[in-house]
Amino acid sequence: MTTVKLHKEESRKAFLDIYPSLVEEILSELRKYNMPADAYEWTRESLLYNVPGGKLNRGLSVVDTIRSLKGDAVTDDDIFKASILGWLLEFFQAVSLVSDDIMDGSITRRGQPCWYRKENVGMVAINDSFILQSCVYILLKKYFKATDYYVDMIELFHEVAFQTELGQLCDLITAPEDNVDLDKFSVEKHRFIVIYKTAYYSFYLPVALALHMTGVKNEAAYTEARNILIPLGEYFQIQDDYLDCYGDPDVIGKIGTDIQVNKCSWLINQALAKANPEQRKVLDDNYGKKDAGAEAKVKALYAELKIEDTYKAYEEKSFQELTSQISKIDESTGVKKAVLTEFMDKIYRRTK
Ligand code: FPP
Ligand code: MG
Repeated sequence: MTTVKLHKEESRKAFLDIYPSLVEEILSELRKYNMPADAYEWTRESLLYNVPGGKLNRGLSVVDTIRSLKGDAVTDDDIFKASILGWLLEFFQAVSLVSDDIMDGSITRRGQPCWYRKENVGMVAINDSFILQSCVYILLKKYFKATDYYVDMIELFHEVAFQTELGQLCDLITAPEDNVDLDKFSVEKHRFIVIYKTAYYSFYLPVALALHMTGVKNEAAYTEARNILIPLGEYFQIQDDYLDCYGDPDVIGKIGTDIQVNKCSWLINQALAKANPEQRKVLDDNYGKKDAGAEAKVKALYAELKIEDTYKAYEEKSFQELTSQISKIDESTGVKKAVLTEFMDKIYRRTK
């Protein structure tokens, strides 16, 4: 194994090792309330089923960001605090995934049945997602109440939750599976959905938490970071949309379904923007149909419209723009170029 890989493995393990103590903190709150034994066990099971088990990229990115902000001056205590914040981000993500799976009627998540699909869980999962949300604030209070950035972090979590909810709303009403209407799609709508539903919590939130933790108060630092991280998050989702259609299923670990499930993907929006009336009819007749033949017709039209080339050009352009924007960052505000370059390097030209 290479040194970089070994280092990544160690960081991941150290991060994972903290989780049982967080479960214990939450359970100790329940004991204070004399929670009946069955409900206590229920909560424990939800905490173990829904929070760990993902790739942990978001949580770990808080730790990576602290490392690059503090450089050689980073302490074990910094890593511990950043890990707690990373777990709070993983709790936040668990809230959205548990409830999103109900809304989307999904079957599996992270290689196991969705929580609401488990025997006896069903719609209790809605309340479980609220409990996971409360865990963010219980743990934030426990570890950060004494800091001068506590209120800023509470406000940040509230703000990003609201943004994520707005993105989810727009996503849900734009692409219902049972009512295909391509007129509802547009490049602008797609942009709003991905920025609000994904980019704020996945890209801006980890860096903003790390900036607060290192005592950065200057609003300009957050603005600089946001101006890079939001387009980067947008690119990340566009890449996801691209891989859904053109990625190798063996490499990405899933078979793309966007065309058949009527997803408001970047690709269909580019196709709609380029299509003549005849081509538009092909899309209207075949998009969002659970039928491999219809899906093949949409893919053939993407090829005719050279959508892959459009993607490659977009990727190159956004890489150039963000690289140039990062080079102009004013580090005296408190944000570091290296933090943003690291994020870029992790995702640009990924194949999975
Ligand atoms: C997954 O998208 C869904 C999200 C990333 C966000 C869901 C947001 C909410 C349910 C709002 C409430 C959230 C909070 C934190 C208060 P997807 O369905 O496109 O992806 P999938 O294929 O992984 O399900
Ligand atoms: Mg979903």
